[in-house]
Amino acid sequence: MKGKVEAIIGTQWGDEGKGRVVDAVASRVDVVVRYQGGANAGHTVMAEGETYIFHLLPSGMLYPGKTCVIGNGVVVDPQQLIEEFEGLQEKGKDRARLVVSGNAHVVMPYHKVLDGMEERFRGMGHRIGTTRRGIGPCYMDKVSRRGIRMEDLLEPDILREKLTFNLEYSNLLLTRIYEESPLSFGDIYDKALAWGKKLAPYIGDGPLVIHRALEAGETVLLEGAQGTLLDVDHGTYPFVTSSNAVGGGGCTGSGVGPVWISRMTGVTKAYCTRVGAGPFPTEAKGEAGDRLRERGGEYGATTGRPRRCGWLDLVALKHSVRVNGLTGIALTKLDVLSGEKILPVCVAYSHEGQREENFRGGYSFLENVKPVYHEFPGWDADISLCNTWEALPEEARKYVSFIEEETGVPVVFIGVGAKRDQMIRRGL
Ligand code: GDP
Ligand code: IMO
Ligand code: MG
Repeated sequence: MKGKVEAIIGTQWGDEGKGRVVDAVASRVDVVVRYQGGANAGHTVMAEGETYIFHLLPSGMLYPGKTCVIGNGVVVDPQQLIEEFEGLQEKGKDRARLVVSGNAHVVMPYHKVLDGMEERFRGMGHRIGTTRRGIGPCYMDKVSRRGIRMEDLLEPDILREKLTFNLEYSNLLLTRIYEESPLSFGDIYDKALAWGKKLAPYIGDGPLVIHRALEAGETVLLEGAQGTLLDVDHGTYPFVTSSNAVGGGGCTGSGVGPVWISRMTGVTKAYCTRVGAGPFPTEAKGEAGDRLRERGGEYGATTGRPRRCGWLDLVALKHSVRVNGLTGIALTKLDVLSGEKILPVCVAYSHEGQREENFRGGYSFLENVKPVYHEFPGWDADISLCNTWEALPEEARKYVSFIEEETGVPVVFIGVGAKRDQMIRRGL
């Protein structure tokens, strides 16, 4: 194979700045592939004086001459996809070629209703705080082998048969378990046919498109959604999403062989945030957390919910380094820390009086750990115009170097502001 594959993934609980890092790299790659998740994602790109939030479209859409693939591992809400794509078209910014994998699964209206019902059923204590985008129920149908795929939207008879079966099952859940009204077949079938008509020009063979690009010597970039700590296997289960957000998910979710991935870049916020429920050992409740939220604009790009904020957690980051095989870290939002007098960084957990250096996703463990902090002196200077390593204050360089020393992974990119050029490149 002449081409190569790189991946950009989240190392924390999502919202690390994957969209902006993908945007920074997209100009030098040929194909950008979203490989898992769905419209639960919100990837922000600030470029050309505008703010774009990508939910389903890959963050390379603004570049002419590129191909953007929605991989088979994604669960696609066609209505959302059409709106997002038309939004770009209206602005004349749909510059890349779009391919939607025919074997990606469709998020149906009943998946979104069931997502809400499931949360209601869970009640306080078990509620995950999902984005209610139907992600969990759609992946459930996929794995249970009763799902509907994008290519089915193009075949009225097949769609009728599959939808009848899938809706019958979903309506049983809605009426018998959740005591809600059933949804009507006719409305959904008509909608689904209309989606198919609109999206027909884009539905194709994702893996084949990627293979052809690789054979032609092109570079393929896999764009992860969510983050490692939200991964269904490696995250803080059960407070996770329903897909494999880790780099390995990039293989199954796009049809790329594992040995082809030559670079695995983990996007890491210079502090931590989390939306929704679940353990967060370094959470800073009170004033410090509020400061980070306001300065960092930490409100969900998809749901607008305030994000929980806290300090950088190296125990969790080292776990991400391991389960992804990171070759580089893209550190974002370093500028948000400017003005903090003291910067605590979690270097270990204290668990039942013992020092614990290894992360365990289990709820009972994480709820009972106390972070052991190493405190760094902060810096006052505004760093949002720094474009070189040397231009950063010494305290900021020490903070970054400590991350490299502790993780053993080079920091290959530093974000010092949200705009496209507010970054320091160190090899990415
Ligand atoms: P994603 O889901 O990982 O793509 O991240 P989000 O877009 O949900 O959230 C990241 C937020 O941080 C967005 O509002 C970005 O515009 C912003 N952002 C990204 N990198 C930086 C940075 O280096 N500095 C600042 N101040 N903001 C950034
Ligand atoms: P990006 O790609 C942050 C969280 C939800 C909830 C949990 C499960 O922008 O980083 P789901 O709707 O997936 O069933 O919700 O996962 N979550 C995210 N948090 N960023 C995201 O995506 C997220 N996608 C899901 O808040 O806690
Ligand atoms: Mg986001």
